[in-house]
Amino acid sequence: PTKVYTEMYRPQYHFSPEEKWMNDPNGLVYHDGIYHLFYQFYPDDIVWGPMHWGHAISKDMMHWEHKPIALYPDEHGLIFSGSAVVDHNNTSGFAKNGETPLVAIFTYHLMEGEKAGRDDFQTQGIAYSLDNGDTWTKYENNPVIGNPGIRDFRDPKVFWHEESEQWIMALVAGDHAKFYSSADLKKWKFLSDFGKYQGAHGGVWECPDLFKLKAEGTEEEKWVLIISINPGAPNGGSGTQYFIGEFDGKRFTSNQRKPKWLDFGTDNYAGVTYNNTLNNERIFIGWMSNWDYARDTPTEKWRSAMTLPRDLSLRKEGDDFVLLNYPFGTVDSLAKKVITNGIKIPPQNKETLKVDGLNQSQIRFSTESKNFNVILKNEMGETLNLSMDTEMGAFLLDRMQSGKVDFQPEFGNKKHHMSISSLREEPYEVKIFLDWSSVEVFIDQGRYTMTQQLFPTMPYDQLIIENNDDEADILDVSIDAMDSVW
Ligand code: FRU
Repeated sequence: PTKVYTEMYRPQYHFSPEEKWMNDPNGLVYHDGIYHLFYQFYPDDIVWGPMHWGHAISKDMMHWEHKPIALYPDEHGLIFSGSAVVDHNNTSGFAKNGETPLVAIFTYHLMEGEKAGRDDFQTQGIAYSLDNGDTWTKYENNPVIGNPGIRDFRDPKVFWHEESEQWIMALVAGDHAKFYSSADLKKWKFLSDFGKYQGAHGGVWECPDLFKLKAEGTEEEKWVLIISINPGAPNGGSGTQYFIGEFDGKRFTSNQRKPKWLDFGTDNYAGVTYNNTLNNERIFIGWMSNWDYARDTPTEKWRSAMTLPRDLSLRKEGDDFVLLNYPFGTVDSLAKKVITNGIKIPPQNKETLKVDGLNQSQIRFSTESKNFNVILKNEMGETLNLSMDTEMGAFLLDRMQSGKVDFQPEFGNKKHHMSISSLREEPYEVKIFLDWSSVEVFIDQGRYTMTQQLFPTMPYDQLIIENNDDEADILDVSIDAMDSVW
């Protein structure tokens, strides 16, 4: 709670930088009561530029405190995306007096090398902090992994692999992921490659993450590899795919050929998960933008925000597994005031509600209806349209008339589509979070998710829900005002 934000479009319960340009979340790590959020940051402009790691801390991932810049560019290059670990056993030897080091592992991007037309300008470096992230020292023998002659060679995600008792790094190399291992975070050994012929390849692979999850209600464990891709997402531009498979400490394998998508919205990119969480939760944060138009969105003081932190889980469907992502529990503490509660909408009926505060709210209901529209409107006639049509096998999000859209051609040129392959017969939950310039839709506990930016020029004040189903009800329609966290 460091600032009161009053600018137009400013998110009130999502993380955004106080000012200037932000992209990917970096170094997500929990230590000693603190969730760290580092992020790709350019402190001199509201467009991408020489990258630093910005820094913020939180106790609940909702209320953030801005901290000074953690990592600055140096003679090895700009500081691109990466991760951070808690080195509990001081394997790195960075602690001299019994402290517990935090170690950041990131990509160096050497502009001079790129300009000179070389291919080896991305390398991996490390830095450590002995005061829980307040101050950082770069390792004197950086880089720790040199470049093998691959132009896109970046975004290291490191974690402690219990089974083989070593550090594992996933990083991306253009059209595939590479895995490395280390005993001390300084010397790295190449292990294996994955993915050249699997999943989506419409663009370069970025920001990998690898972790194990147990499928809900079973004893089965699977490894999940997350890979961001740009371009090539289902609705254009940047998006996040994942693979379900096995990891044996050396090699990730998966029999999955086709891509699976973590989010079908246009604005959830470069997301990764926290290391070292309290109860082994798998908490994900993504950058709520898209490289197609990230530089053009109509804000002036700052650019872009992060998604709500989300709890990832695995659901077994037949012989297959799907990854669910659903807002982390602490978001519930922000839903303070109930605006409307418990409305029922019978088949072939609609409800029109006049609501103040829609732009900073949570709309929720439970439904057996497989055919409905949720429409938000303001006095300017700007409209956001969400519709479920399971006969079409689709959920559609239409922001074409949602407000300011003309700042870039790709932003408002089409409806966005999420295929719905299976929905339970019993009532399932729909939750929609609005925060001035974003909407996040979670259907059936995050089985289907869409995250989008939008820029209504005045607040929406009308909510229309149309139940077009012939038989089933929409139940318990409720709207909660969401607290400002700043
Ligand atoms: C993803 C990305 C990363 C890179 C960073 C640079 O959005 O392109 O691959 O490390 O942004 O800012």
